[in-house]
Amino acid sequence: MKYILETKNLVKSFGGVHAVDHLSINIPEKMITGLVGPNGSGKTTLINMLSGFSPHNSGEIFFSDVERKKIMPWENQVYGITRTFQQVRLFDQMSVLDNILVILTERAPFYALFERHSGYHLKCAEDILKKIDLYEKRFHNAADLSYGQRKLLEIGRVLAMDANIILFDEPFAGLFPEVIKKIEKIVLNLKQEGKSVVLVEHNMAIIRKLCDHLIVMDAGKLLAEGHPEKVLSEKIVLEAYLGE
Ligand SMILES: Nc1ncnc2c1ncn2[C@@H]1O[C@H](COP(=O)(O)OP(=O)(O)O)[C@@H](O)[C@H]1O
Ligand SMILES: [Mg+2]
Repeated sequence: MKYILETKNLVKSFGGVHAVDHLSINIPEKMITGLVGPNGSGKTTLINMLSGFSPHNSGEIFFSDVERKKIMPWENQVYGITRTFQQVRLFDQMSVLDNILVILTERAPFYALFERHSGYHLKCAEDILKKIDLYEKRFHNAADLSYGQRKLLEIGRVLAMDANIILFDEPFAGLFPEVIKKIEKIVLNLKQEGKSVVLVEHNMAIIRKLCDHLIVMDAGKLLAEGHPEKVLSEKIVLEAYLGE
């Protein structure tokens, strides 16, 4: 198995709390990796460090494409790493279409409202909106969308970035089954396109269905890592996390 991202002894502390505590994990290329663990186990903190959103205190993050390189927090975009947030972040007063176009044109949000978009960008944005089932809503303000639609639009914005590594932080939380199905399909499509995906998720049925690799964290540390079925049958995981 080839790994696209690795961490070695990664540490992030907040005051006295080791949110991520000497964590060494591997994220396989072109697969879906599940990341599970109780609330407060450090999943979001790990996503923040892998996406360059917050720097680590010590340890290392490696990226392997042609060669294995240590990467610094400010380099994540260069390596094509992007993420979603637990709390959806959109430009609320912009249309659904402009929320996507802003990313495609890589312009400041202000200008995207006034400049003409090239036909190419418009076509790409419309294709993405069809994929996330928001084409009909394209001229509505993002603020007018339902919670599920907002989650879909955030995922659309991630698709627009055309990243190689996509980190999803609880994309299914609080959603109705029909929206969950749509997002599952999008995640599986990303894998088919050769992207590497990390998925923070609590629902084991979803983990089993989607993931090729599973990482279990507890109190900032690695509890188990490997094939999902194998990991989920390990005694330490059953005891510490699932309480079964
Ligand atoms: N910005 C922060 N300031 C202080 N403590 C934080 C901060 N972010 C996370 N933590 C703490 O780090 C630990 C891990 O949090 P988090 O990564 O959000 O866990 P998870 O995503 O697995 O629920 C928790 O104890 C949390 O309270
Ligand atoms: Mg979290």
